[in-house]
Amino acid sequence: MPADAQRSALIFPDNLLAAASHPDPYPYYAALLAYRPFYRETRLGLWVALGAQAVAAVLKSPHCRVRPTAEKVPASIAGSRAGEVFGHLVRMNDGARHATLKPALAACLEAFAPERVTAAARSCAAACIGTMGAGGNGLDGFQRAYPVQVVGRLIGLPDGPAAEAAALTGDFVRCLSPLSNAAEIERSKLAAPRLLDLIARHGSPMLVERLASLGVPQRETALANLLGLMSQTYEATAGLIGNALLALARDEDMRRRAAGDDALLRRVVAEVARHDPPIHNTRRYVAEDCLLAGQALQAGDAILVVLAAANRDPAVNPRPHAFDPARADAACFTFGRGAHACPGRDMAVTLAVIGLQALLAGPLDFDSLAAPRYARSVNARIPVFGAQP
Ligand code: HEM
Repeated sequence: MPADAQRSALIFPDNLLAAASHPDPYPYYAALLAYRPFYRETRLGLWVALGAQAVAAVLKSPHCRVRPTAEKVPASIAGSRAGEVFGHLVRMNDGARHATLKPALAACLEAFAPERVTAAARSCAAACIGTMGAGGNGLDGFQRAYPVQVVGRLIGLPDGPAAEAAALTGDFVRCLSPLSNAAEIERSKLAAPRLLDLIARHGSPMLVERLASLGVPQRETALANLLGLMSQTYEATAGLIGNALLALARDEDMRRRAAGDDALLRRVVAEVARHDPPIHNTRRYVAEDCLLAGQALQAGDAILVVLAAANRDPAVNPRPHAFDPARADAACFTFGRGAHACPGRDMAVTLAVIGLQALLAGPLDFDSLAAPRYARSVNARIPVFGAQP
């Protein structure tokens, strides 16, 4: 093991909120998981679920919600267009609203023909690589812009507006992070109406009509959730591509074989999603007093659900710390579980595979990709190859 990796493996993150962007948080997760898979972390004022059983129980619990009852929209954006979008999103609603929105959006995603997804992805990957230039900054731009441009194209945006929408999505998602400063929140408030306008002007009217026929008649809700497809894609798929690049950089033999074998590259990406996932945690809020995974929780309690720790729970994945693309039936929590499970999982893997194929075929110097820093984030793990974005 290189000296840097050895050092980082020995130093635990300060706390669980600093783990996703730590060089190697996995020994820390494993130590916590072995000691207490579901516990109250008094320092953070949160319950923490790390074990596979506890994570699944929380994500499937009828007593848990995706937002605190008293704050459906974060106070920092309440009253703005960004706040309105947030309030419409399938990801941020439970109950009847979620029950209508989820199948409608999932049906829209399923209706994108695989040939169309592949064609849009290849064309966006080629265009993004064309503007990449040398050095890490170009790669950072690629991993963030390319996947969301593809989703923009699939919802009907032509090339130029799709590229503009990708940049605006980067601004918009800052309102979803508790680490954002006042200037970032202001930029995200400005981005929301501009994104909505791009989608309204250039997006496919057929998609809005299809959502209406599937029980989502309000145009604002439909447009907000099409925007939501881009915002859900943005950081998570960037991290999946970046973390897969690092796995390929670590193993030259696997890299050579995966470059010529699509099925192997798909297995590599799926194993990266489990082993070094782009999303490390999500949250739930307890709506009423309840017993959950053997613990008594009270209404108002917040739970940090550590998906990345559950992926390495030896109770569900034998040899959990080994990176093994040949692993059969791996339990992977990265895309969530239960009612809010990610409907974009297959698309995310496809986008990562096609983006990586384009990078593997290009002039990228994999040997320069070692020992990255990670973007500032509480829940996403996105390597930064150049200057901090
Ligand atoms: C590597 C890429 C991705 C990862 C790791 C990921 C992960 C997740 C996770 C963990 C959730 C559930 C959050 C929770 O329960 O608290 C989620 C929800 C969601 N994801 Fe993804 N996602 C990815 C890519 C995508 C893409 C490409 C799309 C669409 C084009 C998408 C659309 C959604 C939507 C709409 C939801 C909300 C579902 C609901 O609340 O019912 N995701 N994703």
